[in-house]
Amino acid sequence: MQETENHFKITSSNVSTWYGVHDVLKDINMKIRRRAITGLIGPSGCGKSTFLRCLNRLNDLVANFRIQGEISLDGDDIYSPDTDVVLMRRKVGMVFQQPNPFPMSIFDNVAFGAREHNRQIKKTELSEIVEESFKKVNLWDEVKHKLNDSALNLSGGQQQRLCIARVLAVMPEVILLDEPCSSLDPASTARIEELIMELKNSYSVVVVTHNLGQARRISDYIGFFLDGRLVEYGLASELINNPREKVTGDYLEGNFG
Ligand SMILES: Nc1ncnc2c1ncn2[C@@H]1O[C@H](COP(=O)(O)OP(=O)(O)O)[C@@H](O)[C@H]1O
Ligand SMILES: [Mg+2]
Repeated sequence: MQETENHFKITSSNVSTWYGVHDVLKDINMKIRRRAITGLIGPSGCGKSTFLRCLNRLNDLVANFRIQGEISLDGDDIYSPDTDVVLMRRKVGMVFQQPNPFPMSIFDNVAFGAREHNRQIKKTELSEIVEESFKKVNLWDEVKHKLNDSALNLSGGQQQRLCIARVLAVMPEVILLDEPCSSLDPASTARIEELIMELKNSYSVVVVTHNLGQARRISDYIGFFLDGRLVEYGLASELINNPREKVTGDYLEGNFG
C-alpha cells in the first residue's frame, strides 16, 4: 500500500536546535506515523530527549533554547504564534523517565487533567473518566479499593501506569514516552511494554529508549540518532536486520554507546 501524507501524524522538517551556543539537533527530517509505535534510539547525549520534547514544545521552558525548522501536527505548525500551546500539549501528552505522580490521591492524579479540561464536569462523569483511564492502563483492579490513598505510596511500576492514565484522561492523540521503563524492574517493564503495544491501536506513540531489546520488541518504526543527527529511520525490522548505514549496524552490535 502506498503511503500518503494522511498516514503521518507529526512531521519534523529541517529541525535544528540549540541550548545557548551548543547545537544539539541538526536538520532533523522525520515523519511520524499515526497509530504506530516509533522508537527513538541512540547513545546517551545524542539528542533523543531534546527531539521528543520539541514535539510538544516542552523545551520552550528552557532558557536559551532555540529551534529552527518546522514541526507540524496534522499539518498545523505547532510553533506558529497562532498555536494554543495548552491545547496542543493536551493532544500531545508526555510520560517521563521517573514516574512523577502529583502529591495527591490516586483518584485526583487522574481527575486533575480532566477537571482542568472541563471545569463544569459532573462528578459522575469525572469518576467514569478516572475509571476508564485506569482500566486502559490495567491498573483499575489494583487501585479501585484505595482511590483516596496517596499516589506516592504506589510501587514504581504502578506509578508509571498511573502517569500514563493521567495522560489518557485528557484524551490525547499522541503519547510521547521518554525512557518510561528505565527506573522499573523487569516485571513492571514487561507490563508497560504490553501497555504501550495496546496504546498504538488508538494513539500515535513515540518512545525513546536506550534499551535495544525494548526497541526491537515494541517498535514498528525506529529512528537512530547519533550526535544530533537522524542517521537512519525506517521499518523496525529492516533497520534492525538490514541497516543501510554501517554506523547503525555498529551501534546495534554494541560496538559503542
Ligand atoms: N536543558 C538543557 N540545557 C542545556 N543543555 C542540554 C539541556 N538538555 C540537554 N542538553 C544537552 O543536549 C545534548 C542532548 O541531550 P539529550 O537530548 O538529553 O540527549 P539523550 O536524550 O539522547 O541522552 C546533551 O549534550 C545535553 O547535555
Ligand atoms: Mg534522554
